Amino acid sequence: MSALRVGLLGCGGIGARHAGAVAALPDDMELVACCGRDAERTRAFAEGRTAAAYTDLDAMLRQERLDLVIATLPPYNRGGEIERVAKAGAHLLVEKPIALNQPAADAMVADVSATGVVAAIGFMYRFGDAVRRWKAADTGEVGLYAGAYHCNALHADWWREEAKSGGQILEQVIHQVDLIRHLMGEPDTVYARRANFAHHDTPGYDVEDISAIVFGWDDGRIATLNASNIAVPGVWHKEWAVYAERMTGRFTSWNDAVLTRTAGEVSAEEIAGPTDPFVAQLADVHRAITTGGAPYIPLAEGAASLKLALAARQSADERREIRLTA
Ligand SMILES: NC(=O)c1ccc[n+]([C@@H]2O[C@H](COP(=O)([O-])OP(=O)(O)OC[C@H]3O[C@@H](n4cnc5c(N)ncnc54)[C@H](O)[C@@H]3O)[C@@H](O)[C@H]2O)c1
Repeated sequence: MSALRVGLLGCGGIGARHAGAVAALPDDMELVACCGRDAERTRAFAEGRTAAAYTDLDAMLRQERLDLVIATLPPYNRGGEIERVAKAGAHLLVEKPIALNQPAADAMVADVSATGVVAAIGFMYRFGDAVRRWKAADTGEVGLYAGAYHCNALHADWWREEAKSGGQILEQVIHQVDLIRHLMGEPDTVYARRANFAHHDTPGYDVEDISAIVFGWDDGRIATLNASNIAVPGVWHKEWAVYAERMTGRFTSWNDAVLTRTAGEVSAEEIAGPTDPFVAQLADVHRAITTGGAPYIPLAEGAASLKLALAARQSADERREIRLTA
């Protein structure tokens, strides 16, 4: 089969990362078109990559016979574009967060799934070597997950506005919310706190910069997350520890962890994986498209993880525990 014809919708920071991942799979896919809002910047982005530049999504879909569109629009600008791609028959990889509210997420999942295209959501932590090794290991049930996400940057203008990004929990911490679902399943309750602690005088910055979340299961299991945007400037610090019946995992990234067997003879394995999770995620989408199978992380997972992130935000705003299951 010839290489899949790929189009990029959204040519910003993560769009460039995905373009690099496409280039790392030259036998499987080729970036043939890019669509952005600003004509000049989109042309500059496309030129370096020998792809055609568009500012009109429908024109790109009409003219390029795309097999796959990678959608990296910021969350506030998802007003039917992704559904239009699916209706045109192109498969999809959609960046997180899928949407800013549950009705929009659920409608997108329903509309896209009705078209029958392959559609995946970009929770690429799940493709890391250390995460995959944990999933394949005989860990027993996870009792406790403790995760952290800390940075200190102003990010893009849209990121600082809750109406556009949803805030740090929805836009960044959601990666670990998804990991908790991946490793522990669906929690029954959530309690959270969030505050704009150090940026209330920064114009246009109305999202939280500190937060803490506790997910609970009725059988006693617990997952906690703490996050901030007031930590070391320019450094993205992510880590999580997972305590299961027969194994403890201390992760410093999706690829790097120490997994220690805690039942029987205690022994530790250090994982330092080489996998680029953006490339692995695209390779998985290629597999799903060419074999007619399902992607490893279907789009509906984006709506399910969004539900937990939204509930955490609601809990913080209403200062009460939210029940997630009946
Ligand atoms: N998986 C990850 O680790 C990761 C990392 C960063 C960002 N993201 C996600 O990727 C998305 C984009 O983030 P970013 O950092 O690249 O943002 P960005 O601001 O750098 O880029 C967004 C681009 O989309 C373009 N755009 C906006 N609306 C458009 C429209 N309607 N049609 C065409 N182009 C449009 C903008 O002009 C801009 O070039 C967000 O959803 C973000 O959460 C994911």
